[in-house]
Amino acid sequence: PMLEPYPAIPAFYSSLGFSLFAFIATIYLIPALGPTFINANLKGRDLLKIYDNPIPESMGLICASVYILSLIIFIPFAFSTPIREQVLASKPLEGITVPEFPHQQLSVYLSSLLSLVLATILGFLDDVFDIRWRHKLPIPIIASIPLLMVYYAEHGNTNVVVPLPLRSIFGTLINLGPLYYVYMALLSTFSTNSINILAGINGSEASQALIIALSVIVNDLLYLPWPVDFRIPLHLLGSPAEVEFGGVWSAGMAHGSRELVERHLLSFYFMLPLVAVCSAFLYHNWYPARAFPGDTLCYTTGMAFAVVGIQAHFSKTLILFFLPQIFNFLLSSPQLFGLVPCPRHRVPRFDRDTNLLHPSKALFLTPPAKVTTMILHIFSTLGFVELTVHPKTGVIFETTNLTILNFFLVRFGPLKEKSLVKVLICSQVTGTLLAFFIRYGLAWLVYDG
Ligand code: UD1
Ligand code: MG
Repeated sequence: PMLEPYPAIPAFYSSLGFSLFAFIATIYLIPALGPTFINANLKGRDLLKIYDNPIPESMGLICASVYILSLIIFIPFAFSTPIREQVLASKPLEGITVPEFPHQQLSVYLSSLLSLVLATILGFLDDVFDIRWRHKLPIPIIASIPLLMVYYAEHGNTNVVVPLPLRSIFGTLINLGPLYYVYMALLSTFSTNSINILAGINGSEASQALIIALSVIVNDLLYLPWPVDFRIPLHLLGSPAEVEFGGVWSAGMAHGSRELVERHLLSFYFMLPLVAVCSAFLYHNWYPARAFPGDTLCYTTGMAFAVVGIQAHFSKTLILFFLPQIFNFLLSSPQLFGLVPCPRHRVPRFDRDTNLLHPSKALFLTPPAKVTTMILHIFSTLGFVELTVHPKTGVIFETTNLTILNFFLVRFGPLKEKSLVKVLICSQVTGTLLAFFIRYGLAWLVYDG
């Protein structure tokens, strides 16, 4: 007899259980360990408050530890079916074919853990030593090498499906080869840093991570066979764009959908405890914050997203869940690349009298170069920034800092910190809805069915 078609489902429930446990552990440990962090000098001042008592910083370390530990404890459960099969194989039973132990999946799992641990170390070192950003950019790239190696070992796809209008020029598929690996390595740098630079108000980092993780889970659920009585017909969801996510469709429907299920199940197992620790942390980080995430939370969560995007072969869908971060990165680039002065903190300016946040500004000490002036004028026309120009010469001498948070304040006027974080959350949710529309709505227009 054949083994049941979707053997991994029972682990689903242990994953739920561990996540619940991770939630309870985090929500308890954050306040309990706050004083310990302050004693270790891991503390920061809340820049947008009138009081200045120290707030424990780098508390993302607790989230990361609980998260990684629950993923480690989960390993035997994730592989419970193959373990059972091996036990069966040791007792000779007639007519049963026992598959080999899935070493491949185990190496996927372990390399993911390795990358997560490396990202956590990097984040924590950054919190302690304040590493300069040009020094820390390449580190996630190195941390992603184990992932890329496993991707290679699995014969991961490096083809990209060409959208219909461009097919006459490029053909149906382009093989990016090594460039595809470069792209995946850059993805890990992007996902770790993009959350870190969209920060500075209470609840911002944790809520971004939470919404992205939930978006990934919703996307995974679309591919999972439901234990309840409505099975999503996989063949309806597998648009031809799936060819680029691992070439599984070319191998025939039955095999294709099973492999797809396994990949998305793995992603689900990595996201569920992340949702748990992020939501527990958000409870303590919500306005007025009693704990700060530090770069540790940004790096661990960012790497977790890169891990699932690469290992479950949906990196392009994943990028769509980062729309606010992409916007923030593009807007920030003149400051990141030195065209516009970049102060240590670009958080909004806090008005003590009204308790409102205003856009903060960057001051030019020397007149900006021509390119810079042009870029800033374009941004200003689009309503992204507010410029202060010299009344006679027209030379720009001040601009609002180039972040999405300042952009919201330029657009919607001065806001309370609590309202600004809600605007950010709304933009993240809208981004996700748009992402699903692009991925599953427009894919039919761009790729033939
Ligand atoms: C990034 C941003 C920086 C922003 C900072 C805020 C870039 C290039 N860097 O730097 O502009 O000011 O994040 O996190 O965009 N803080 C608060 N309230 C919060 C969270 C943080 O006041 O809700 C302050 C605290 O003083 C805390 C500090 O920000 O100690 C943490 O900053 P850190 O994460 O070290 O800054 P970067 O990630 O280097
Ligand atoms: Mg930071």
